[in-house]
Amino acid sequence: MRHGISTVLLEKHTRQHVLSRVRAGVLESGTVHELRDAGVAQRLDRERIEHGGVCLGDDNTDFRIDFRELSGRPVTVYGQTEITRDLYEALDRDCADIRHECPVVEIGNVETTQPHLLYRTRTGACRLDADFIVACDGYHGVGRRFVPTSHRTEFERRLPYGWLGILAEAPPVHHELVYSRSSRGFALASMRSQQLSRYYIQVPRQHDPKDWSDQAFWKEFRRRLPGRFADRLQTGPSIEKSIANLRAFVCGTLRFGRLLLCGDAGHIVPPTGAKGLNLAVSDVHYASNALVQYFHHGDLQGLDSYSRKALDRVWLAMRFSWWMTRMLHLDPQSDGFESQLRSAEFLHLRRAPGAQGMFAENYAGLPY
Ligand code: PHB
Repeated sequence: MRHGISTVLLEKHTRQHVLSRVRAGVLESGTVHELRDAGVAQRLDRERIEHGGVCLGDDNTDFRIDFRELSGRPVTVYGQTEITRDLYEALDRDCADIRHECPVVEIGNVETTQPHLLYRTRTGACRLDADFIVACDGYHGVGRRFVPTSHRTEFERRLPYGWLGILAEAPPVHHELVYSRSSRGFALASMRSQQLSRYYIQVPRQHDPKDWSDQAFWKEFRRRLPGRFADRLQTGPSIEKSIANLRAFVCGTLRFGRLLLCGDAGHIVPPTGAKGLNLAVSDVHYASNALVQYFHHGDLQGLDSYSRKALDRVWLAMRFSWWMTRMLHLDPQSDGFESQLRSAEFLHLRRAPGAQGMFAENYAGLPY
């Protein structure tokens, strides 16, 4: 219970499953601020790694963009799974009502003041009545479906490639992230700690992680890193290996009556730039302020402007992630002219302080 508002959390999976999924791990300063504000940042503040910039490179060169100097804000490396763990602990301390293995099958009456949910449990179907329903159930979740199609414009683009990612027991190749635009395709060197690396390579959309041995991954990853990093790469056993296909998706309405959509339930940006979790946090910022304003003051203004405020920020992040993705990946469908333009984009970023300023502002996170 926060602000005197009680909540019930329904989760389709087990807690163990939720905590086993590896997600991105770069937090904007606004996200860190929100987590502190919610009182769930003690471990984050002990364990987080602050990064003042990133490296970008290709086959021949690499250069650094300095966030502190150009935007005044660093970013924080801390895994999304760790945030989930911290949130669970805080909810447990509060004796919150969390119901696992309870898939939602129907959301109804959202246009009235008494919406309800129907969900399944091991022993049968259950109904829950609430004042508001907030769908945080991801892109594949059911929440969005209960916004009628007549009110729901959807914008979607799929990219013809995915990211093969591994979590490996090896020290990171560099103390900051390295994004590489190699002639063999994109690669990214990220990390979770000083002993745990998170590395990615671009692969065709239909690839299966089972087709990639650790050895094949390391060989390809090394070839795609800018030279001085490739020489330093230390490999180690992989703990996790998965492929995420890249897509961009925005639902044009994030609120219908008393149903609110937050995070991937309402939008997905390509992972380049690590904006997904940060956008979920900014949605929750707008949504929770709106609910507090309503319950404490009977004021509907925040709810009425929720969708617009959240979507403005989503589209700004989409603009950046889309641009960064296109610039850094090898696109099998693009012609020579387009490839040359992308190379020029990269050259411009390397040479122009103004372009680096734009990059830093967006990567470090735009204001709420
Ligand atoms: C990650 O650490 O998983 C990560 C980092 C940066 C990105 C995407 C993913 O742009």
